[in-house]
Amino acid sequence: MYKVAAIGGDGIGPEIVTEGKKVLEAAGERFNFEIDWTDFDIGADRYLATKKLLTEDDLKELKKFKAIYFGAIGDPRIKPGILEKGILLALRFSFDEYVNLRPIRLLEGVETPLANKTSKDIDFVVVRENTEDFYVGIGSRFKKHQKIELEVLRDLYNVKFGLDVESDAEELAYQIGVVTREGSRRVQTYAFDLAQNRRKKLTSVDKANVLSDVYGLWRDVFTETAKKYPDVATDFNFVDAVTMWFVKNPEWFDVVVTPNMFGDIITDLGAMIQGGLGLAPGGNINPKGTSMFEPIHGSAPKYKGMDVANPIATIWAGSLLLDHLGEHKAAAAIVTAIEKSIKDGVVTKDLGGTAGTKKAGSYIAECVKKGK
Ligand code: IPM
Ligand code: MG
Repeated sequence: MYKVAAIGGDGIGPEIVTEGKKVLEAAGERFNFEIDWTDFDIGADRYLATKKLLTEDDLKELKKFKAIYFGAIGDPRIKPGILEKGILLALRFSFDEYVNLRPIRLLEGVETPLANKTSKDIDFVVVRENTEDFYVGIGSRFKKHQKIELEVLRDLYNVKFGLDVESDAEELAYQIGVVTREGSRRVQTYAFDLAQNRRKKLTSVDKANVLSDVYGLWRDVFTETAKKYPDVATDFNFVDAVTMWFVKNPEWFDVVVTPNMFGDIITDLGAMIQGGLGLAPGGNINPKGTSMFEPIHGSAPKYKGMDVANPIATIWAGSLLLDHLGEHKAAAAIVTAIEKSIKDGVVTKDLGGTAGTKKAGSYIAECVKKGK
């Protein structure tokens, strides 16, 4: 018996989590375990009614779980950023979920926009650092009479900053990225361990040629950590170059480890090459604490309640959740069942099918139960 927390959230979130639960329960039937769900009403409706985002009480309750199954948050009635920062990022930070695990795998039967690439070519994992970098939220905006003196690179070359914060019309903003030795070490170690269990290749992504303080440290730690894994082949890619290689030679990649913000960007690219956002799952992992599993797409409010959303990303996230709980066979069976539903054409509109959310989810659940 596993106790799992569920946060459906906003928009299509609740519908896709319902399908995910169905499939995880089917996996339990076949592999002899049960899931005891506890639902939380965290999200836009509660916020509008009570002004509560993620509260201390929520955290105290959620902390009791090893895994949270998360749908999506985001609602057009609320200014962008409020729910994202107040709920999603708050969860990732509060539980110190320092690994954002995002498999990029083209399932059989899915079309990729990349010419001449098949499922054999697209099968890697992005390990995104999930607690540091430009996500730490240190920054500010300055208007008239709020002077700020920053040592900026441009001063070195005697180029004027070009801003007069003394004038009414001008405004200045800055935001700081923070990378730590331990923050880098722990996520890179996770990535090395993962690579060791796969094809033994790890690519580190950064922009150490320009942002040389933060990513210079990231690189130093990577070089040191690599010494402990002589059997893992490593290389460095600058983030701009890696976007190019994801498109041209995705078969080169096995495990990719990246600081937070670049990871955000390159995993949307990854989602597209694996067939679209409707297929891309993610795990926010603290190996010793509370982890959270979610589709990487958002809440798609305009499709809310219409039974059209593709539940696969969420169902696949459920597979990552089971893997995390140690149910490896059940996790693999779910991905096989997803693949089967695609081959059989029981898929939603985004994949060219006519099935609704519920039908697509139920079909996958049936395939899991039958083991084919
Ligand atoms: C993601 C999302 C989030 C992020 C947003 C919604 C805060 O884009 O999970 O990739 O930037 O991490
Ligand atoms: Mg993103």
